[in-house]
Amino acid sequence: MRLWVKHARQVVRVVSDADPCREYLAGPAQKNCNLAILEEKDGIGLSIIIDRDGLIADIGYDDVMQHKYENQTIEEIIDATGRSVLPGLVDAHTHPVWAGDRVHEFSMKLAGATYMDIYEAGGGIHFTVNHTRNASEDELYGLLRQRLMRMLANGTVLVEGKSGYGLDAENEIKMLRVLERAKRELPIDISSTFCGAHAVPKNQTAEEATQNVLNEQLPKVMLMQANGELHVDSIDVFCEKGVFDVEQSRRILEAGRRAGLRLNFHADELTPINGTEMGASIGAEAMSHLEEISPAGIAAMAVKPSIAVILPTTAYLLRLKPPPVREMITQGVPVALGSDFNPNAYCLSMPLVMNLACVLFGMTLPEALVAATINAAAALGKQNTHGSLEIGKYGDLLILNAPRWEHLVYQMGDNQQVIGQVIKRGRIIDRTAT
Ligand code: NIG
Ligand code: FE
Repeated sequence: MRLWVKHARQVVRVVSDADPCREYLAGPAQKNCNLAILEEKDGIGLSIIIDRDGLIADIGYDDVMQHKYENQTIEEIIDATGRSVLPGLVDAHTHPVWAGDRVHEFSMKLAGATYMDIYEAGGGIHFTVNHTRNASEDELYGLLRQRLMRMLANGTVLVEGKSGYGLDAENEIKMLRVLERAKRELPIDISSTFCGAHAVPKNQTAEEATQNVLNEQLPKVMLMQANGELHVDSIDVFCEKGVFDVEQSRRILEAGRRAGLRLNFHADELTPINGTEMGASIGAEAMSHLEEISPAGIAAMAVKPSIAVILPTTAYLLRLKPPPVREMITQGVPVALGSDFNPNAYCLSMPLVMNLACVLFGMTLPEALVAATINAAAALGKQNTHGSLEIGKYGDLLILNAPRWEHLVYQMGDNQQVIGQVIKRGRIIDRTAT
């Protein structure tokens, strides 16, 4: 065996084989989730055993595990006395590949400029596109590596990462190739999303940009996918007034679907344009933001269901109306969380995202943990490997310097002290490496 974590005070599995649905939790299952917690009993702590393939081999009380595994070779033991163990976190929405920060726009926004004021004046995504187009793959990789290692240090073991600052075939492919290199070289799992329809390039109309995505970018990406040079999971569009309208977004998403991609896109963030209803009508697996979702949009998402990826950092920084998370949970929409890390919302910490989701959007602590683990994994189609501590899933764990898991969210802004160890596939991550 690779690793034995023993004597833990608490093991938070999130779901277990006693749960009727373990792929994602929706409605009352998310609201009333007991997180399948195992607690130390009569002084007997808990053990988790991870095998040489980095998969969870067993979970249970120390005495039972001692009996079962005492004769096996164990490469490494961690004494987790008095501490709490939970699954590594999943960040379901990020834009991590870019050059050129936008710290100057932060002061503009504090002074009252809106996101679209800055975008329409040629800043925002356009600013990042200029810098990203001018950056080499090596430069972009160096920036990405640091960001991903910081996410891992803050407890994220699986992250969705989008392209979207190239806006032409060559530069979108450059970004996706940088994500591929990170998949090969870094100990964090990545789900790639093609987001060539993230903005309308300055010299094009939205219709021209739509044609470019459909006729140039997507076919070239899919050719590289067929050659095994890229492994893209999903397609995304910024469906928004003044960017791609609902019909343009539909055409791009449907083309992505025909090419075999999952649908996971930005909907109803700044203006209510019924993007969510369109997404549900074409069976989108996930939709993000949703600050301006309509009641009909919530009902439509609940049917399949589509997973709502809620991004509290953006609503907080842009002072947007909170998305109606309580209503979504009541109506049976599974809610997931993402950091939305991008040059507008520079946040690499899912524990902080969970804190904001609880305080600003009224989620309970268990709902937020479900949203940052199993439901975020399900938004990416990775629920069979990530998002809970169950036998056969990846041995990706956080061991907290605290007796109860809630400290991860409660002790805000100091995650790396609260998280004692991050374990990825049974190996302790060196968090001093950058
Ligand atoms: O999810 N809304 C569109 N996309 C990003 C922002 C990207 C950017 O501003 O660079 C988001 O918030
Ligand atoms: Fe985004």
